[in-house]
Amino acid sequence: MAANGNHDGPVFLIFGKTGWIGGLLAEELKKSGAKYHLADARLEDRAAIIADLDKYKPTHVLNAAGLTGRPNVDWCETHKLETIRANVIGCLNLADVCNERGIHMTYYGTGCIFHYDDDFPVNSGKGFKEADKPNFTGSYYSHTKAIVENLVKEFPNVLILRVRMPIVSDLCYPRNFITKIIKYDKVINIPNSMTVLPELLPLSIEMAKRKLTGIMNFTNPGAISHNEILDLYKEYIDPEFTYANFSVEEQAKVIVAPRSNNLLDTERISGEFPELLPIRESLIKYVFEPNAAKKEETCKAVREMRGR
Ligand SMILES: NC(=O)c1ccc[n+]([C@@H]2O[C@H](COP(=O)([O-])OP(=O)(O)OC[C@H]3O[C@@H](n4cnc5c(N)ncnc54)[C@H](OP(=O)(O)O)[C@@H]3O)[C@@H](O)[C@H]2O)c1
Repeated sequence: MAANGNHDGPVFLIFGKTGWIGGLLAEELKKSGAKYHLADARLEDRAAIIADLDKYKPTHVLNAAGLTGRPNVDWCETHKLETIRANVIGCLNLADVCNERGIHMTYYGTGCIFHYDDDFPVNSGKGFKEADKPNFTGSYYSHTKAIVENLVKEFPNVLILRVRMPIVSDLCYPRNFITKIIKYDKVINIPNSMTVLPELLPLSIEMAKRKLTGIMNFTNPGAISHNEILDLYKEYIDPEFTYANFSVEEQAKVIVAPRSNNLLDTERISGEFPELLPIRESLIKYVFEPNAAKKEETCKAVREMRGR
């Protein structure tokens, strides 16, 4: 499948066509009139990857394929070989084959490989930089993601984007970080770096066109806490909305693997795109204002989704 576009321009090939981010990338490329195709290969099948590259002849590969676990990353704790096969072997296969052919690859990875500690305390304003060594391997998912980042970063054709707690404007979409915290009975309250996809995904396509490489913290500048987001929901959408907090220790009782909380440094991405909004402003522009414009509809849908 391909969109019409300038045939002399870049040709994108998306891996992860059935996934959340892969689907959004296809929408974005279609909207912009760029030429793109959707890959068929499984990442662990090197011959199939080669066949896709030969068939579609991309100048740029967007790799949004990988195992994220269902209903969540806890799945990876009990499916370690599948996780290694897709997230480590698969990603390396694709990077390697692209490198052999001189094709740029953008890899949508994760920033959930860092955790606040004594050197990077919460609320200190000190964020993890691209060159910092991952310090969070508490979940098997994050463990494999840190390993693959450390290996893939050696490939000269690859841009690694560290995505975190991705957010879209649909407040009933189950993978949206805001939907998750709206639905939970109780939430922790810790400031985190987050990725507002409608603002950042178009920038990732621009980064690919610029053929940037290396690691990029792919979040809006600054951090925002769970309560601050839910308070924005109350302010813009539903003043009657209520929520409750619990501690990280209490949270540990309802999940299998620990989750990371962190602030990523955004000097590199802001240097590339000075117009990039700080997280709170981005949430207001891309999530809360559009929903406030159809407040009743959003409020009703969210209440039905919560069942309370
Ligand atoms: N969503 C998040 O919260 C989040 C946060 C940070 C980073 N990320 C990262 O962003 C990337 C995309 O995430 P997402 O949320 O879009 O994931 P997603 O919705 O779970 O989609 C994953 C995609 O990868 C494909 N896939 C899985 N294993 C594959 C394999 N072995 N070979 C080829 N394709 C395979 C899936 O296809 P099938 O359905 O056919 O298997 C699906 O199209 C991942 O690397 C993820 O780690 C996501």
